[in-house]
Amino acid sequence: MHPSSIPAPDVSRKPRPADFRFRCIACGDQSDASGKNFRCGRCGDLLEIVYPQWKDAGPDAAKLKSTWRSRRLSDSTLDQSGVWRFRDLLPALDDEQQAITLREGNTPLYELPQCARIAGLPRLFGKHQGMNPTGSFKDAGMTVAATFARLAGFRWVACASTGNTSASMAAYAARGDMRSLVLVPDGKISWSKLSQALDYGAVTCQLRTDFDGCLRLLQELVCHAPVYQLNSINPFRLEGQKALAIELLEQLDWQPPDHIIVPGGNLGNSSAIGKALLEMRDLGLISRLPKLSIIQAEGANALVRTLREAGGEKLVNVQAETRATAIRIGNPASWKKAVHVIEATGGACEQVSEVEIAQAKAEIGAEGIGCEPASAVTLAGLKKLLEQRFVKPDETVVLVLTGNLLKDPDYTIEFHRGELFQGKESERGLAPLRRAPQVLDATLSAVIGVLERAEK
Ligand code: F0G
Repeated sequence: MHPSSIPAPDVSRKPRPADFRFRCIACGDQSDASGKNFRCGRCGDLLEIVYPQWKDAGPDAAKLKSTWRSRRLSDSTLDQSGVWRFRDLLPALDDEQQAITLREGNTPLYELPQCARIAGLPRLFGKHQGMNPTGSFKDAGMTVAATFARLAGFRWVACASTGNTSASMAAYAARGDMRSLVLVPDGKISWSKLSQALDYGAVTCQLRTDFDGCLRLLQELVCHAPVYQLNSINPFRLEGQKALAIELLEQLDWQPPDHIIVPGGNLGNSSAIGKALLEMRDLGLISRLPKLSIIQAEGANALVRTLREAGGEKLVNVQAETRATAIRIGNPASWKKAVHVIEATGGACEQVSEVEIAQAKAEIGAEGIGCEPASAVTLAGLKKLLEQRFVKPDETVVLVLTGNLLKDPDYTIEFHRGELFQGKESERGLAPLRRAPQVLDATLSAVIGVLERAEK
């Protein structure tokens, strides 16, 4: 079944020989082509991008650091992107006009003094990926993958999503004059994210299934229609997402933190960060590896169970349920890559409850920073890792805040109104963090009364 009305990719512009290759993460087979579904032609497992030329003479670490620094003064489009500024560690472009960029990356590294105090650490940092152009970390990967989709001549790009990928893909497709198809689980993504995809012009399908069902269908679709897949199975996405870690290390003046803590859903982001850390170590950009730990919601804990019940050998998939809808994923595609980076960096994998997520989110919000629920699993997980003494009280920790507070306003409003857990016992301990709006008569005395009560 081939939809005849969709134009086949225009491959008339033959790309020059690439500086990278695709390597299968399971059988190690290397190739110059990725196939339609970004799976190994031999064994069907996922692919990663490798740079064979680094083997003999990798780029010089000191030179890279000074090049990247000097590009911060440049006005060029590529240099102003916090992803393409690090292009020496990405698949190469022939010229800068090829890049589809929204000046992604360049995200702040904030100190979180109140959260540090709550957790019992002297210092704590949040790398806020929610400050990207469409409000999530997805933009860093999307700029690279959308660029290569257009270079490959595709008219249509597509993704399955819990919301953020679709918002990001739709924006980059629009900027790159491509059309986009979004598959999202009906009723299980936030309206903010959906509204972004609609406004950026995506053809949006709310499917009566969960994220895992959407992704399964997409994988079939790309084999039947000339549509380019932009999920994190696409290894170009993960190359772009490496920039988060490179920029972080630059912000820390190349002094690696002891721990980086990241939420885990489909497990692309943790895999990308881990790949970047290992490459930076191998190229001599950093002298030791931070431990990379992945935190999941208890109701979407496939990786936790895979490690605990199957020793990381085979995926234990789950029926996912969590109000942190961004990570409501039961069958994570990149689980093998994630197991590898946890093992290679000596990290941990933990799960946190819905109440712990809500509390951590409010605590990050109270710093004037804010994030969406999925990002808050990092602080909740850090508290657990401190209790277990996996993180020591004198260590430096960076939380990766993956999405902006405004991504899921319903969650935040329900939290502050005390409606998130339908008034259940479990929510009682959260009361001191709640700031419900107050409806008053429009009088001076009423407002002064509120001020006085707030000060008590
Ligand atoms: N945090 C946020 C805000 C996310 O949107 C996602 C994933 C994750 C964390 C987990 O990252 O999947 O790389 O492990 N969102 C995807 C989406 C699945 O479709 O937007 P991951």
